[in-house]
Amino acid sequence: MCGIFAYLNYLVEKDRRYIINTLLTGLSRLEYRGYDSLAVNGDKENEFLIFREVGKVAALRAKIESQSTLDMNKKFLSHTSMAHTRWATHGQPCEKNSHPHRSDPNNEFIVVHNGIITNYKELRTILEKNGYLFESDTDTECIAKLAKYIWDNHAKGSKPTFTTLVKAVCKELEGAFAIIVKSTHFPDEVIATRRGSPLLIGVKTQKKLKVDFVDVEFGGAEAPAAVAQPKGNSLLAPINPSHPPMQRSQSRAFLSDDGMPQPIEYFLASDPSAIVEHTKRVLYLEDGDIAHIDEGELHIHRLRRDDNMSTMRQIQTLEMELAEIMKGSFDHFMQKEIYEQPESVVNTMRGRVNFDTRTVTLGGLSTYLATIRRCRRIVFVACGTSYHSCIATRAIFEELTEIPISVELASDFLDRKTPIFRDDVCVFVSQSGETADTILALRYCLERGALCVGITNTVGSSISRETHCGVHINAGPEIGVASTKAYTSQFIALVMMALQLSEDRISKTERRNAIIDDLCRLPQVIKETLALDNELKQLSRESLVKQASLLIMGRGYQNATCLEGALKIKELSYMHSEGILAGELKHGPLALIDENMPVILIMTKDSLYPKVQSALQQVTARKGHPIIICNTNDSNIPDKYRTIRVPQLVDCLQGLITVIPLQLLSYHIAVARGVNVDFPRNLAKSVTVE
Ligand code: F6R
Repeated sequence: MCGIFAYLNYLVEKDRRYIINTLLTGLSRLEYRGYDSLAVNGDKENEFLIFREVGKVAALRAKIESQSTLDMNKKFLSHTSMAHTRWATHGQPCEKNSHPHRSDPNNEFIVVHNGIITNYKELRTILEKNGYLFESDTDTECIAKLAKYIWDNHAKGSKPTFTTLVKAVCKELEGAFAIIVKSTHFPDEVIATRRGSPLLIGVKTQKKLKVDFVDVEFGGAEAPAAVAQPKGNSLLAPINPSHPPMQRSQSRAFLSDDGMPQPIEYFLASDPSAIVEHTKRVLYLEDGDIAHIDEGELHIHRLRRDDNMSTMRQIQTLEMELAEIMKGSFDHFMQKEIYEQPESVVNTMRGRVNFDTRTVTLGGLSTYLATIRRCRRIVFVACGTSYHSCIATRAIFEELTEIPISVELASDFLDRKTPIFRDDVCVFVSQSGETADTILALRYCLERGALCVGITNTVGSSISRETHCGVHINAGPEIGVASTKAYTSQFIALVMMALQLSEDRISKTERRNAIIDDLCRLPQVIKETLALDNELKQLSRESLVKQASLLIMGRGYQNATCLEGALKIKELSYMHSEGILAGELKHGPLALIDENMPVILIMTKDSLYPKVQSALQQVTARKGHPIIICNTNDSNIPDKYRTIRVPQLVDCLQGLITVIPLQLLSYHIAVARGVNVDFPRNLAKSVTVE
């Protein structure tokens, strides 16, 4: 999705080169979210410089560097600036649709936005009728125009404050958004607010902060300061002239000992990866928070008090390291992330699995274990690869816990208005923790009183904050759009959850021990599998890169691997690929098989081996030549078949290993086809819109 980045320095002198560089680096960290980008930078009083470029951040950098008239050494003691990388939802990727969008040629209000304004057509119609001319095809532009409309309709002398104005704007917006607003009427101030899209604020000071939180300030219950019956239409609520001014408490955190504001820098972004190189101290905005930064102070406002929400926002410390979001010696983030799996799986288990005592302790679930064990069913909800990790672990979950499990795609779950009850446990699996469909499904289940558990990779994400309890998979930042290490870590997190839930079942002890013993072997076994890389590269070039289609078949525990492998192939190489449950072959897909149809068959040694052998015969009887993913110790496979041999693990963990050759194959096919592996077309890492 779109990425937002803003930088503010207050009493910390920086030259223009530094500011622009900070914006561009911030954008490049967010580049995996979008396609076209721009930077904004204030210059003289009440003047904004806006740079736009379609495509990569490097092109924007080159464009700015070519502006010979720009004094890059000009110093700013205090300054506000912002930038945006766009994933087009409304309007083509082109300069005119690039953010920030402005209210008018004088840039009275400029806005960068991540999300979708669902009522933008209605707003645009009303604003156009009132003489506001639109310049882009985006939904975002109506935010800037609306701000100006409200401003213009206030009589001189009774103009609203910046916060009050943005509150009035937000009241009219429907949909999901994170926005940052700047205005010539409030020169050195910035407002940032979110509803449904992520936004966090990094804070950098030389001196330690006095306290680690910011108090939330509450306005009156009524609409703060819309216009006095704006020129005869009902777009905005009538003004409440007696509305009391906002209570403005001091944000103690940012004051120095003498009570004066201290030099400070703020970094606002949709993702911590854009902030971590500047500061690790961050504050996550909650839905409905309106952050106002003025004269070095950060104030967080809300329209009204919400009993379920804390009245403080903690300033937290990011655990992520800069090196984790750099490619290092790898060609692509995806490649790096595939290769990180021997370590990322250890990080998922660290401090949780005791291999000596063969026990599992998930601290985040400890107080809820009894409730989960008593529930009448567990519903897994997720999208894409995260959904596949649920499919992969469903059988072992059912076997160990003996609780009925259903696995739901979040969008379909919502479309069906699936019945959910108080004694259900709903588990939301999401790498980003920000996927719109999964969040909506979570809120749906919260409303119905179910216990909601989050399995996410992103500390501070919406899903990790809004669920009752959960497990962070600790795979480290995943930047490549195609999910790889998050899949294996989600898989392990779900297996660990099943292991802990079944710890009181004596009858399962032997099975549990076998699983825990193989979890211990995982890092080594993954390394052995990664050693197949060259062989897989060769295979992809010789046999697969020119194909139009690829079928991946298996059954039982390997069904999820087939689905996940096919998803990786199609999203990265744009080749049609389908994961097929081998048991379904004769119910239709067999018609596709002939000597020209490429097939990969997963035939590892588990209880279903004989049945997969029969699928192999059905395929070869139709002149198919499948490539077989099998175990290293399997001597039953005739030499005529091309094989990819992987180490054997206990059946329910084998999918952690069989998926790796498919990740690597999809990577190599994509590279050979000249596709940008880290930014597949039309896709974004974090799908924050429905
Ligand atoms: C595929 C992929 C997507 C995501 C899906 C859910 O490689 O990455 O299918 O798995 O968009 O995203 P999260 O896990 O962030 O909820």
